[in-house]
Amino acid sequence: MCGIVGYFGDKTAKNFLVDGLSKLEYRGYDSAGIAVVNEGKVNIVKHKGRLANLTENLDGNKAEGTVGIGHTRWATHGEPSDINSHPHQSSKGDITVVHNGIIENYLELRQWLKGQGYEFISQTDTEVIPNLIHYYYKGDLFQAVVKATERLEGSYALGVISGQEPDKLVAVRKDSPLIVGLGQGETFIASDIPAIISYTRDIYLLEDREFVVITKDGAKILSGDGTEIKKDVFKVTWNEDAAEKGGYDSFMLKEINEQPKAIKDTLASRLSMNNDINFEDFKLSKEDLDKIDRIFIVACGTAYNAGLMGSVAIEKLAKIPVVVDIASEFRYKDPLVTNKSLVITLSQSGETADTLAVLRDCKKVGARTLAITNVVGSSISREADNVIYTMAGPEIAVASTKAYTTQVVVMYLMAMYFSELRGLMTKELDKELREALLLVPEKVQIILDKANEIEETANLLANEKDVFYLGRGADYALCIEASLKLKEISYIHSEAYAGGELKHGTIALIEKGTKVIALLTQRSLREKMISNIVEVKARGAEVIGIAYENDVLDESIFDKVIRIPELYNLVSPIVAIIALQLLAYYTAKNKGCDIDKPRNLAKSVTVE
Ligand code: M6R
Repeated sequence: MCGIVGYFGDKTAKNFLVDGLSKLEYRGYDSAGIAVVNEGKVNIVKHKGRLANLTENLDGNKAEGTVGIGHTRWATHGEPSDINSHPHQSSKGDITVVHNGIIENYLELRQWLKGQGYEFISQTDTEVIPNLIHYYYKGDLFQAVVKATERLEGSYALGVISGQEPDKLVAVRKDSPLIVGLGQGETFIASDIPAIISYTRDIYLLEDREFVVITKDGAKILSGDGTEIKKDVFKVTWNEDAAEKGGYDSFMLKEINEQPKAIKDTLASRLSMNNDINFEDFKLSKEDLDKIDRIFIVACGTAYNAGLMGSVAIEKLAKIPVVVDIASEFRYKDPLVTNKSLVITLSQSGETADTLAVLRDCKKVGARTLAITNVVGSSISREADNVIYTMAGPEIAVASTKAYTTQVVVMYLMAMYFSELRGLMTKELDKELREALLLVPEKVQIILDKANEIEETANLLANEKDVFYLGRGADYALCIEASLKLKEISYIHSEAYAGGELKHGTIALIEKGTKVIALLTQRSLREKMISNIVEVKARGAEVIGIAYENDVLDESIFDKVIRIPELYNLVSPIVAIIALQLLAYYTAKNKGCDIDKPRNLAKSVTVE
């Protein structure tokens, strides 16, 4: 949700600012802007629309200088427009700010600042910040930022510059991510690692209310009272290629294709045919597990959908009651979390505001908390009692793919681990599950090799207004994710339905030509699903089936069947989702959608 960058060094700041923003565009792409200090003056260039609009309009003379800040916006307050774009500047001076987050008391502050003679030209919450800093400015930018931020309620990651202190960049975060990159003679700030990975791998991870003052002597981390905080340098280990498309049309297609490796890497250190499942990073004794009376899995969007899959596996294998909930709902409903609860938060970014808030609330009541994420050093990973990292690596496309499958894999392993601890796992089931999970990467590749066939099938969907996904059991949980994928990148309305639930109302929407995607990976529910397919077919639906290659079907009730390899049925959905991701991808591609930058969305939702 908005990306911010900053540069202090001996090179032209705008080069890094633009490059860094291009790597953060997945966080928002409504507008982009930079501000650079040059000869004691702050020059701002900002434009509505994609970053390309900014770069086309970057007048060399205006944006020269070696200290600067930049922003790519996902609009919250005020429409995407030049005026609402960041950076924002004080009406009384040149204190200039980029901001990621939401200032909740901005109306009250705006009113108060108006009373002090400040003027406002944008509709944003951010504009109060440079004005407040100006109000407190008495010759020390750091002090003014400390005082101003004391009055802010909400979340913020800020980069601040001023022509009055041209050799200084001040930054701070609270509930919005911010890192500091340490280069040779240059220092960077950024909302996320992809922005700086090609410049440095040495970073500081900032905690809430830690201030950074960057000068020619480097970056100093200070608390609000000016005390210097000594920080360990965190080494980024991931590959620079992760932030590049590597020959694919889009990050989404690249990441879909990375799944065999991501899943294999996630399994590698934890599962083999003969050894105990390795949960060194979340080691529990039988007694520890017996103390847990309920598991809550809380997350948003695709991560929530991964949680749904996880709950199916945990309840089936470990027989522990699981509640799965959406973080933004859970946090306001007085959930029944106690010190006997295990709360699992799932998050690809590790920064999602609602998920982080749930984690904090649950810690307060003494629940044991576990994070499953792929971002080392993210807020959620740092604040949870335990963290399990998936090996998905960074995910850049807004539509989550490999983060989902690897989260599901981790939860399946956890379900097996719990089941073994509780003495519920039989030898036969253990063997079957291990074999199936270890085969997943290979089976996923088989689906990827069918991309052309799936692309053809996608032609059936491109002109649709509504699509229905039907499944039962684990397939129903999978349908929910498949449906979200289609919606978010192709803008086709879709709904996921439990096969048996359809006739309780929604079947009224099925008419001649309505597209229904029916999942048949759960053998024990196959006949029930076939009945549901017959019911929609009888009402004119056109049905695309996802079925095992050896499943003998009455082809007359399907308009098309995508065949997938069979695996132990609980594990099969992890393979089936690849076909559904590709179906969504090619549908969006056929429609000419901007797949990596779907409208109105951003990758990392760091505001409520
Ligand atoms: O970073 P998180 O995993 O916490 O993000 C949660 C959702 O915002 C995210 O999964 C979103 O639903 C994806 N864009 C879906 O593809």
